[in-house]
Amino acid sequence: MTLRNKQIVIAVTGGIAAYKTAQLVREVQAEGAQVRVVMTASATSFVAAKTFQALSGSPVAITDNGLFDQAGMDHITLARWADLIVIAPASANSIAKLIHGEADELLYAMCLAHEGQVAIAPAMNQQMWSNVATQENINGLRNRGFLIWGPADGAQACGEVGPGRMLEVSELLQLVLSRFENTAFAGQHIVITAGPTHEAIDPVRYIGNRSSGKMGFALAEAALAAGARVTLVAGPTEQICSPRIHVIHVETAAEMHLAVFQQLDDCDLFIACAAVADYRVANIAAEKIKKHSEHLSLELEPTEDILRDVKQAQPKLFCVGFAAETEHTIEYARDKLVRKKLDMIIANQVGSSEQGFSSDYNAVEILTADSQESIARMRKTALAPKILDAIHQQLLNRKENSNVRYLKKSHST
Ligand code: CTP
Repeated sequence: MTLRNKQIVIAVTGGIAAYKTAQLVREVQAEGAQVRVVMTASATSFVAAKTFQALSGSPVAITDNGLFDQAGMDHITLARWADLIVIAPASANSIAKLIHGEADELLYAMCLAHEGQVAIAPAMNQQMWSNVATQENINGLRNRGFLIWGPADGAQACGEVGPGRMLEVSELLQLVLSRFENTAFAGQHIVITAGPTHEAIDPVRYIGNRSSGKMGFALAEAALAAGARVTLVAGPTEQICSPRIHVIHVETAAEMHLAVFQQLDDCDLFIACAAVADYRVANIAAEKIKKHSEHLSLELEPTEDILRDVKQAQPKLFCVGFAAETEHTIEYARDKLVRKKLDMIIANQVGSSEQGFSSDYNAVEILTADSQESIARMRKTALAPKILDAIHQQLLNRKENSNVRYLKKSHST
């Protein structure tokens, strides 16, 4: 029961996905958390407050009517009580109100008064989600440190298909768990590379790849949630992350190499998640290349292998690589593990839209010299804490083994 002693406010705004939130309340409670439900007036036209009251075993707060604080300060009492507020579903309207800091209902006033984290599970029509207004609001909230969970892609209640569905309850539960699961990396400095690199051909063109950066950014968020100080060296990507993560934006493999090496002095763990270009153009054209002839050949030269160089420079540093392969996944990944002298490699199959590069989902095999663990297809945001757990477990095993070695040594002397 990961959530034992945790106090979670589940806040419901007006949307059809509110019926799923009833199940979320049950599942969060089943993990040991105490749950209070807060609703907007409009949410009550989708699911009755009594449903949530019966499920949570506590009164549902809709207005400051003294259910939790006789002085009519329920919004303050709940804001202080909550270890985490999860707004699910979060309608387009509620997101717009949150970005403006409105406080015309208890739910919004509570969010303003809450010092800890607020997670948002958006749910709306795909066009409303894609609208620039909503996107700007969401990005603004993310920049302020709100956690944005979803939305998912798929069939919508309105009959359309696209992004805007609330995440499934099981996915939301995983995300709630990931907020509390561990402090495994407390005080440690984790350096992560993410995204693609762009290698210039001329001032307007480059060689790139399809990496979206989603996996690396999810790992950075999970590392932050596990108590680490995180430096994320990111190639060109649209991903946004918590302001508490130190992001260094780079474009080329050479810049990424330099940025990573500048962070190595006090680094405790290095995760190379970036899809770094293996080659760059030997002679970058100073001016835009014109189509003068039928054929054009570019001479390429190898880029720096960041991961290999880091491991060579700091052999004791725990280094994790990624192997994105289209075939013979395990075999090729094992080869990389050995060749680059890595401590762990995360292998995944790419080449389909179901998982991998630009997808929100991934399924991986976690390989070390003497172990192999499969993790089934799931959202990258849920996968990231699992990968960190596996790394943590390896670090613990190492510590134990070195203690045993030390003990044996001291016995024998
Ligand atoms: N990597 C890196 N710097 C590079 C290339 C790769 O740090 N210049 C890291 C990636 O971040 C990833 C792992 O190494 O963690 C992937 O290795 P990859 O380049 O795919 O391996 P190669 O040995 O180049 O094998 P191949 O290209 O044949 O698949």
